[in-house]
Amino acid sequence: MIDYIEKTPSADEYNTLTNSVGWGVTESGIVQTALANSLYTVCAYDGERIIGFGRLIGDGVMFLYVQDIMVLPEYQGQKIGTEIMERIVKKILDYKQVYGDLRAYLGASVGKDDFYKKFGFITREEAGLGAGMVLL
Ligand SMILES: CC(C)(COP(=O)(O)OP(=O)(O)OC[C@H]1O[C@@H](n2cnc3c(N)ncnc32)[C@H](O)[C@@H]1OP(=O)(O)O)[C@@H](O)C(=O)NCCC(=O)NCCS
Repeated sequence: MIDYIEKTPSADEYNTLTNSVGWGVTESGIVQTALANSLYTVCAYDGERIIGFGRLIGDGVMFLYVQDIMVLPEYQGQKIGTEIMERIVKKILDYKQVYGDLRAYLGASVGKDDFYKKFGFITREEAGLGAGMVLL
């Protein structure tokens, strides 16, 4: 049975997940600060082992951003990402109840659009908006 817990993971847990999905690892202090600055974090556990994660960042009144949705490769395809996203979308809707004009964004990795479309997200193009851009 998988447990979904609204908590901040340790930097090691976070790095275990990012490394497993090919995103590498980040220095612990930076991870801790990034996670502490999040609005909402949810972890999936199989026993003591973290196997999935997602978080929301943003200003909490106008703009939210979905970040770091990830599931350990051997646990993918079992709806764990779906469970994580459902909790994130519920949290977004909680914010929208208070701040009706609030917008939630995300940057889909290559090939992941269809996963996010299941939760109502549309591309900026479909929304008649300009390109998403990034400064690396
Ligand atoms: C993307 C990810 C979070 C999905 O989690 P998951 O637990 O494997 O997904 P689920 O089992 O909940 O799948 C839900 C649905 O999305 C679909 N889906 C899953 N991964 C998909 C992908 N890469 N592309 C398109 N559809 C996908 C599934 O087929 C399933 O469809 P269904 O409801 O019609 O059966 C997971 O594959 C992952 O961690 N990938 C690596 C990290 C990553 O790229 N994260 C996204 C960053 S933008």
